Amino acid sequence: MNSKQFLELENKYGAHNYHPLPVVLSKGQGVFVWDVEGKKYFDFLSAYSAVNQGHCHPKLVKVMQEQAGKLSLTSRAFYNDCLGPYEKFITEFFDYDKVLPMNTGVEGVETAIKLMRKWAYLKKGIAENAAKLIVMSGNFHGRTILAVSISTDPESRKGFGPYMPGIEVIPYNDIDALKTSIKADGNVAGVLLEPIQGEAGVFVPDAGYLQQVRKVCSENNILMIADEVQTGLARTGRMLCVNHEEVRPDLLILGKALSGGMLPVSAVLADDEVMMCIKPGEHGSTYGGNPIACQVAVAALEILRDENLAEKADSLGEVFREEMRAMDYPWIKDVRGKGLLNAVEVKAGGRVDAWDICVKMKENGVLVKPTHNNIIRFAPPLVISKAELKDACQIIRDTLTGFV
Ligand SMILES: Cc1ncc(COP(=O)(O)O)c(C=O)c1O
Repeated sequence: MNSKQFLELENKYGAHNYHPLPVVLSKGQGVFVWDVEGKKYFDFLSAYSAVNQGHCHPKLVKVMQEQAGKLSLTSRAFYNDCLGPYEKFITEFFDYDKVLPMNTGVEGVETAIKLMRKWAYLKKGIAENAAKLIVMSGNFHGRTILAVSISTDPESRKGFGPYMPGIEVIPYNDIDALKTSIKADGNVAGVLLEPIQGEAGVFVPDAGYLQQVRKVCSENNILMIADEVQTGLARTGRMLCVNHEEVRPDLLILGKALSGGMLPVSAVLADDEVMMCIKPGEHGSTYGGNPIACQVAVAALEILRDENLAEKADSLGEVFREEMRAMDYPWIKDVRGKGLLNAVEVKAGGRVDAWDICVKMKENGVLVKPTHNNIIRFAPPLVISKAELKDACQIIRDTLTGFV
C-alpha cells in the first residue's frame, strides 16, 4: 500500500480528531523516520517530546522485548517484581518519597489534582468540596474533562461543557495575579502550571517566575504542581525544567519520554505528606505500574542520565536558536525556547502560514507541526548530533528562505 491509501484508510475509518501532515511513517531510528515510500526525514517533533531518547533506542527495545516475553501485566491486584525496584529508582532519581504510576500524561494530571484535593481536606483543613485549583491561561494539560475544564483554548473547550468547578484561571507569568487570587480565597489548595507552556507555543516565563511561584505557594501552604509531561526529562536542557531555577514542586507530573516512546508511562511524584493521603481503593489504573512500563521507564531514565542528554539539549539548543535567529525576515516574529524545545513564530494573519511552511519542510525532509496557526515548534530527539542538527537547520533555513 502507498501513502495515499493509508491516508484514505485513516480518513474513512478513524475519528477526525487530528489533522496530521500528509506523511505516513513506517520506520524510525534515532533522529530519523522513514515513510512507506522509503523517504527519510529528520523528526523535529519527537512525538511531542516523547521520543527524547530517539526512535527505537536499542536499550529500550531490548528491555521491552525481554519483559514482554516474561511478564507483561499483573494489575495492581498483586505485587510484581518490577514495580518496587522501579519505584525505588525513580523516587531516588528525582528525590521524592513516593511515586504513583499511571499511563498517559493527562492521567498524571488527574492524579495530581486528586491528590491535591485529598490533601486539602485531610491536611490543610479546607471544607469538603471547597478546594480550589489555580491554573494558568494558555495551559495545556491534555484532553479529559478536567483538562478541557481548565483549558482556555476555545477549540479544546467548546461543546464539552459542563465544566468542572473549583478552578480559577489566572494569567501565566504574572506573579501579582497569583498573589491576588490567593489572598482573595483561603480555599486555594494548589497551583498547576507548566514550567514552559509547550502547546501554547513554547512560552518561556520570565527568569525567577518559577521561584516566585514556589515562594508564594510555600508561604500560603499551597501545593505547587508542575506539569513536566512535555518540558521534563532533559528536553529543556535540565533533567527537569524547574531545575533551571532550582525549584522543587510539591507534586511533579511526568509522562511522554518516561518511556522514550515505547508505551504510555506517566508518574506523579510527591512526598509522604501528600502521597499518603490516598488510600487503597481511592485511585488506580489497570495498566499503571505494569512490569513492561517499569522496566522501560528505568531504562529510559538511565539513557537520559548516561548519555548526558540534558547537557546536550542545553548546548545544542543554543546552536539551534543561533541558526534560526540568523534569519532576518520581516514575517518571522520571534525565535524562542530552552534546550531543544524551541519555536519560530511567524506574524499572524500574514502572507506566510505555519501550515504551509510545515508542508514544505516535509517535502524537504524535516518533519514539524504547527501549534496554533502561526507557531512552529522544533523538538528533535535529544540524541541528535551537532552535525545532524546543522544539516537539519540548513534544510529549515532553505525552506524558510523559499518563502521570502
Ligand atoms: C504539558 C502537558 N501535559 C499533559 C499532556 C497530556 O499528555 P497525554 O497526551 O499523554 O495525555 C501533554 C501532551 O501534550 C502536555 O504537553
